[in-house]
Amino acid sequence: MKDRQIRFFDTTLRDGEQAPGYSMTLEEKVRMAIQLEALGVDVMEAGFAIASPGDFESVRQIAGTVKMATVASLSRALAKDIDAAAEAVNGAAHPRIHTFLATSDLHLKYKLRMTRETALEQVKKMVAYARGKCAEVEFSAEDASRTDIDFLCRVAETAIAAGACVINLPDTVGYSTPEEFYALVHAVHTRVPNMDRAILSVHCHNDLGLAVANSLAGIRAGARQAECTIGGIGERAGNAALEEIVMGLRTRHDYYKDLSYNVRTTEIAKTAQLLSRITGVKIAPNKAVVGANAFAHESGIHQHGVMANAKTYEIMTPESVGVKNTELILGKHSGQHAFEARMADLGYSLDAAAAARLFSEFKKLADRKKTVTDRDLVALVEASAQVSSDPDKQYVLESFVVNSGNKMSSTACVTLRRGKKTYKEVALGTGPVFASIRAVEKIIHHPFALEDYQIQAVTEHRDALGEVSVKISDETGVYRGRGVSTDVIEGSILATLAAVNRMLDETQGGLGTGAASNAQHSFANDMLGGGHTDKLEDM
Ligand code: KIV
Ligand code: ZN
Repeated sequence: MKDRQIRFFDTTLRDGEQAPGYSMTLEEKVRMAIQLEALGVDVMEAGFAIASPGDFESVRQIAGTVKMATVASLSRALAKDIDAAAEAVNGAAHPRIHTFLATSDLHLKYKLRMTRETALEQVKKMVAYARGKCAEVEFSAEDASRTDIDFLCRVAETAIAAGACVINLPDTVGYSTPEEFYALVHAVHTRVPNMDRAILSVHCHNDLGLAVANSLAGIRAGARQAECTIGGIGERAGNAALEEIVMGLRTRHDYYKDLSYNVRTTEIAKTAQLLSRITGVKIAPNKAVVGANAFAHESGIHQHGVMANAKTYEIMTPESVGVKNTELILGKHSGQHAFEARMADLGYSLDAAAAARLFSEFKKLADRKKTVTDRDLVALVEASAQVSSDPDKQYVLESFVVNSGNKMSSTACVTLRRGKKTYKEVALGTGPVFASIRAVEKIIHHPFALEDYQIQAVTEHRDALGEVSVKISDETGVYRGRGVSTDVIEGSILATLAAVNRMLDETQGGLGTGAASNAQHSFANDMLGGGHTDKLEDM
């Protein structure tokens, strides 16, 4: 019987995480992996084990956490990489080593300084070596789309003979067109004599905006695994977006001839939102499938059509990707039972302590805001998920007062608590947000630069919650934080504290003393003309 099953290989945690601005902590990667499993991906590439001890550890932890999906680690076709990958995925229920070697003449000559024959030898040796360590081995011919087709077929045949069960054809630099890519996949599919012993995979980058089109063309030509990322994140212009490929197959099953897949499309919106919250990178409103406008109908003609029959302008339903049309509203009279039931509906299972803490935050919010929507609840619970290793060492906002106007400098007086001690500082700034963050910096005695600051209303109305995301950095790295409040200054302080607690957790084991830092940038110096790219001026 012909194989009609498309395997989804998600590389959000490897190719996606590699992109600037998308790095995740170990804990965040594990959270994302759990959601990817709920989404129903067949394989998840958890990282590149040899790249760093952090990468190794996240592959190892994800391998130990995920039960249904295959967990893969990337490795170059080198013994030491394969050793690290094998060790990292060893604890997985279904482990896979994904090894690769570039095969185009351009890469062979200038990057690897290797002849085609040496490359073939290396593929044979290293795939066999990997097979000795793991039952499932995938081989990728990097830059396949710019590789001589006869040579590519020889590479695929060699890798399969050495034990690879998946042959991946990457369009590494997003250079191909759908017609060309169809021809490439079709050629490998039909010309490689032992192709019946492996499945073909596609891995397309989006430099010309063709990653999804090329992936779908590859599937039509016989590929049965699609490598992709949530939201299409990835190197440069990104990878093919998982949600677009799967919704393409689902919506046009007439055209794609009823191919099947294990992805639960109703988990798509939740997965994309989780990634956005974790990374602090917003989803573009017009992003296909998961953007806020993907199902919004603004023009009168469209609205009229949709009201008469949704199919006039809607080719897929919001429900099919997990977007709920009806939002339940809670208010200050809602009890803990209703609150917990709503949280469970939204997919959060809370233990008793978390439920009590969040219910009290919900009550405070309901006092400030007439109605509390699902989006408010998600923002609340996600912001409170940012805990550092030792809660007693975290700085917590006790109170703040700001004084600001258009004819004066702003001042902020901020009081923080850590353990049993309270700390108070006053600071000046060109705006109240600047002054407040500066006061935080003075309290913690640890200079940091503000890399990014974003604020967004969670819902549409005047009493909307403001969700603030910040990225701060010191010499040890970049740290993200989120804060939500109906008050943007409070949201900004909460977001800064979330990032600061992470930074201190990492740099000083949570010790945050005045002695510690020799950071080159300070938030204050940057803001006062240090030439850094902070964006807070005049806020
Ligand atoms: O784009 C690419 O070629 C890759 C391979 C390492 C699979 O990411
Ligand atoms: Zn890639």
